[in-house]
Amino acid sequence: MASIQQSGNQSRGQWSGRMGFILAAAGSAIGLGNIWRFPYSVAEGGGGLFVLIYLFFVLAIGLPVLLAELSLGRESRRNPVGAFKALIPGKMWPYVGGLGVLTGAGILAFYSVIAGWTLGYLGKAVSGTLVQAQDGETSGEIFNSFVADPFWPILLSGLFLLLTLFVVRGGVSKGIERATTLLMPALFVLLIAMAIRAVSLQGGMDGLIYLFTPDWSKLSLNVVMGALGQALFSLSLGMGAMITYGSYVSKRENLWKSGIFIATADTGIALLAGLIIFPTLFFANADPLAGPGLVFVVLPTIFNQMPLGTVFAGAFFSLLAIAALTSTVSLLEVVVAYFVDEKGWKRNQAAVAVSGFCFFLAVPSALAFGAAPAFSGGEGSILPFNLDFLTLNNNIWGNYSLSIGAFLICIGVAWVWGVPRFLAALEDGGDRTFPMPGREVTGFLVKIVCPLAVLIVLIFIVVTGQYF
Ligand code: TRP
Repeated sequence: MASIQQSGNQSRGQWSGRMGFILAAAGSAIGLGNIWRFPYSVAEGGGGLFVLIYLFFVLAIGLPVLLAELSLGRESRRNPVGAFKALIPGKMWPYVGGLGVLTGAGILAFYSVIAGWTLGYLGKAVSGTLVQAQDGETSGEIFNSFVADPFWPILLSGLFLLLTLFVVRGGVSKGIERATTLLMPALFVLLIAMAIRAVSLQGGMDGLIYLFTPDWSKLSLNVVMGALGQALFSLSLGMGAMITYGSYVSKRENLWKSGIFIATADTGIALLAGLIIFPTLFFANADPLAGPGLVFVVLPTIFNQMPLGTVFAGAFFSLLAIAALTSTVSLLEVVVAYFVDEKGWKRNQAAVAVSGFCFFLAVPSALAFGAAPAFSGGEGSILPFNLDFLTLNNNIWGNYSLSIGAFLICIGVAWVWGVPRFLAALEDGGDRTFPMPGREVTGFLVKIVCPLAVLIVLIFIVVTGQYF
């Protein structure tokens, strides 16, 4: 079945098979979050300490919330709003799904800007410009001049949204599965080759030490919040993307195995990206605090250390753009599924309207990073401070909104729907039980540990006022 044109229960599409769903969900999870956001968050969070806390959150919060979302979706066969309406009694719950829909649009609006940068860098790789990026300094200049003029960043983020629109219009299995089946494994192989080269560069060892040695003096609320947000963001959790994808999964599927596979693949790719970026960063003597520009400054320098560097660079930025596309597709799909299921819009119309709206929202983020002296707080600025929409959106939607969403999803699933029903839905469809004590642990994590941990972090942030 290839189409999800109609709303309602029986006529929803399904993934074409076991691999279709797993690859599409992994495609949603694996994206710029792993290769762009993870490394610069690590750098801002002081290296190994961030990695350690992030890994803890993936296990203690990410995996349980992933299983909760997938179960909710498969059992209800609806978009996030409909899923709550169908399964969780109480007037307030559909709003949790609504927050997710809003968050999807919010994330898409800055994510498409970075995705546009990957297209820009693909162009630079193919045209040979990146050959000049021999060290962190020249590479940084190339990046700065790229984002300083808003023309290309805005145009390319629009182009990326257009690509996303085409895939989403085509329906679930046709569009999304095909893009993922071949290209995700290709990205994986390419990253391994790059990691091997990076680690053997001069200074490579310093990078590894930085990545894996926790410096406890760096411990702060912001680091913890960043790691929590990153664990959720990277696994596409907290806004219903996995509820939506779960709604297309058949009962034959073993959700335990799928969840574990998705979380492992996603975390593996993030660590692999770290194994490439940090050794190369030390080798090229680049600035670790380049923020959202980090990957775009660091990576071009490694290609110049590889045989057939231009070919590698072109392949890498193509695959990165495709990885980003399978993620933006899942973001747009959530919002579109909502308008189709709940508001009766035509799929085509919903996709066009939502992506157009997101393009509009993306422009301030495209201007934010270097391209808008008027808002920079510096010379010639009309504001006394730097208004960086990209970072602002990234924090609001990508950290806070997802955390609040994950908290509410856990409460709804474990406390209202109930752990027994959740576990039954998780294992629905025959012999799907997970060896003890997996079930008990999962129930406990979703009911107690996840909501409590998120709540504690959020309360600390509110009390201390350390929002960013
Ligand atoms: N997980 C994706 C990444 O790492 C981004 C993404 C796609 C996402 N869908 C999402 C993040 C839903 C949060 C929620 O690039």
